Amino acid sequence: MANVTVVGAQWGDEGKGKVIDWLAARADVVVRFQGGNNAGHTIVTGNSVYKFSLLPSGVAQGKLSIIGNGVVVDPWALIEEIERVRGQGLAIDPAHLVLADNAVMVLPLHRDLDRAREERAGPNKIGTTARGVGPAYEDKVGRRAIRFVDLADPDSLDAKLERLLAHHAPLRAGLGLPAIAIAELRALILSIAPKVAPYVKPAWRVLNSELAAGRRVLFEGAQATLLDVDLGTYPFVTSSNTVAGQASAGAGVGPKAGGYVLGIVKAYTTRVGEGPFPAEQKNDIGERLGQRGAEFGTVTGRKRRCGWFDAVLARQSVTIGGIEGVVLTKIDVLDGFDTLRVCVGYRLGGERLDYLPAGMRDQAACEPIYENLPGWKETTAGIRDFDALPAAARAYVRRIESLIGVPVVLITTGADRDDTIVMADPFEA
Ligand code: GDP
Ligand code: IMO
Ligand code: MG
Repeated sequence: MANVTVVGAQWGDEGKGKVIDWLAARADVVVRFQGGNNAGHTIVTGNSVYKFSLLPSGVAQGKLSIIGNGVVVDPWALIEEIERVRGQGLAIDPAHLVLADNAVMVLPLHRDLDRAREERAGPNKIGTTARGVGPAYEDKVGRRAIRFVDLADPDSLDAKLERLLAHHAPLRAGLGLPAIAIAELRALILSIAPKVAPYVKPAWRVLNSELAAGRRVLFEGAQATLLDVDLGTYPFVTSSNTVAGQASAGAGVGPKAGGYVLGIVKAYTTRVGEGPFPAEQKNDIGERLGQRGAEFGTVTGRKRRCGWFDAVLARQSVTIGGIEGVVLTKIDVLDGFDTLRVCVGYRLGGERLDYLPAGMRDQAACEPIYENLPGWKETTAGIRDFDALPAAARAYVRRIESLIGVPVVLITTGADRDDTIVMADPFEA
């Protein structure tokens, strides 16, 4: 199998960045296919820590990195990120970074709307990252978005902006936001244009010619299955499809190009923002997982909610997304627990369920059914060989495999690039 598609299989922050960086050493091209700068992917190599929100994680290894048409891109955030990682010594140039000309721009008015709506919603808020990602996708589907290709045609920009503002003006007025003048928005957009222009290309053509030349491509998912707008815990989701099937539409390649579907699961569960979380531990256990796992959001710095591994949800993500194997990350965070619990079903109104139902009320009412597994006292941090793991840790991995129905192909035992146990190479699977 030539290519690999990496997707989160919980609620995000599973450690996709680390895994993608590790796999990137074996790939030629890395492509993002959805999401925006709501994502935060961390890569740790020796003394350097890189945090990517828009840049594909392949830039850490100097690979050809493509921001596909399915991504919504805040050009100011992109330029800031490029400058930041350049300051860390990474070479970002048009030979290594391509931005799809048909990708949609996230504008300041999208951020305004995201924030204003969340403030208005009070206790009913989603807990978004406030980056304007949801409103930008709304405008894309509403056929009034500004795309990067539009920067090359300033003469017709006013007509496009009129269409966009015809929608936003009443919304802004209703939310008490100041009106926007077309001329100002036009000037703002055109002022960033020269900075992004060198990267803007028909990304689908670049990618398809790489594929035709037999190069190995790694498709980098952001967010995760349970945040998928169709398949996740709606409405507490992000505004894009996050499953592997989106790699095709979001990068402009055929549905078979994605290759092996690799799901990333943390050895426990976390979630940022609002929404149901059956195995959540609002107690000392959750605190301990959060402390040991340094569970603070990469993008917003918010404390992540923590709980036990939920095998029902992981299995559901595997089924929905066609996941063929998983990476079990952050197993070192579980070191030192006497007993570990794994959610294996839900109780709902006297019934036992082996899946998470779609309704908001039912999701909130699902009570976890746990299986207890023995913990281990030894440290697993930095272990790079499966046989060197404590017996109880090996048993934990094996139990998860049998509960979710696919093999664990990699295990990570630390944030560093090299703290990785390889059971099977996904590129060779
Ligand atoms: P992503 O959004 O899925 O890429 O994940 P994030 O980067 O937002 O969050 C994962 C965090 O866990 C990052 O701070 C990583 O450096 C860290 N991390 C990744 N793998 C491991 C691991 O095996 N052990 C520990 N302790 N930390 C890890
Ligand atoms: P990575 O790629 C974790 C969550 C937000 C919120 C919901 C909607 O780092 O795993 P949005 O700003 O997308 O409209 O917010 O989705 N969310 C994430 N949670 N990891 C992410 O990305 C996320 N991206 C969005 O916290 O609950
Ligand atoms: Mg993250």
